[in-house]
Amino acid sequence: MIPEGSLLAAHDLRKTYGSTPALDGASFSVHPGEVVAVMGPSGSGKSTLLHCLAGIITPDSGTITYAGRELSAMSDAERSALRRSDFGFVFQFGQLVPELTCVENVALPLRLSGVRRKAAERTALEWMERLEVDDLGTKRPGEVSGGQGQRVAVARALAASPKVIFADEPTGALDSLNGERVMELLTQAARSANVAVVLVTHEARVAAYSDRDVTVRDGRARDLEHSA
Ligand SMILES: Nc1ncnc2c1ncn2[C@@H]1O[C@H](COP(=O)(O)OP(=O)(O)OP(=O)(O)O)[C@@H](O)[C@H]1O
Ligand SMILES: [Mg+2]
Repeated sequence: MIPEGSLLAAHDLRKTYGSTPALDGASFSVHPGEVVAVMGPSGSGKSTLLHCLAGIITPDSGTITYAGRELSAMSDAERSALRRSDFGFVFQFGQLVPELTCVENVALPLRLSGVRRKAAERTALEWMERLEVDDLGTKRPGEVSGGQGQRVAVARALAASPKVIFADEPTGALDSLNGERVMELLTQAARSANVAVVLVTHEARVAAYSDRDVTVRDGRARDLEHSA
């Protein structure tokens, strides 16, 4: 049921909002260091799948296993702790904290896990360098471009050494040139750090950066690993 060697696996997820089935028997898995693109039309259940996998929402039924542990067997506090320690997030509009500078934003997950300011900001700057935004350190999110902001958000997602990055339309608000640069840097950085990436996207050119594609239609994920 759980594909061998997978880090995160979902089996037969169902989730209904009122009478709308958002997920209707979705199965999915990702291996350590693997970049999987989740594709499919609007409303098909991609974000719902991502939020279930990340432990942000609870499915009505089905199982999600992360590193050998079932998410549903954890308490809310344990799931929150897991999100902080092992997961990183990038959304369509970076969701940076507007009051903080870019380097403070990237350092934030480290600060929240108890790393001292100087060390956290040093690590933050290393990641910003890799994402080619280290020159924006003292600017606030409102003072940088969309593509730069997304690269800052990617640096923040990577800074706390996650095992999995969940990215929901990370390039959805960018032009194609900026989108490709963000994808290139995100996948490069994730691969070099052996981070798995669950990447929701509409765009075939974004999926070109993945190792594998999974299509969601009407709440069902077609994951070839699960069709055997
Ligand atoms: N919080 C919610 N309350 C009610 N219905 C919801 C909620 N979230 C999602 N849905 C419904 O569940 C279905 C799947 O939504 P979901 O957001 O997962 O789609 P999606 O594939 O991410 O779409 P998009 O590409 O437009 O982002 C849709 O019919 C949507 O209207
Ligand atoms: Mg969505």
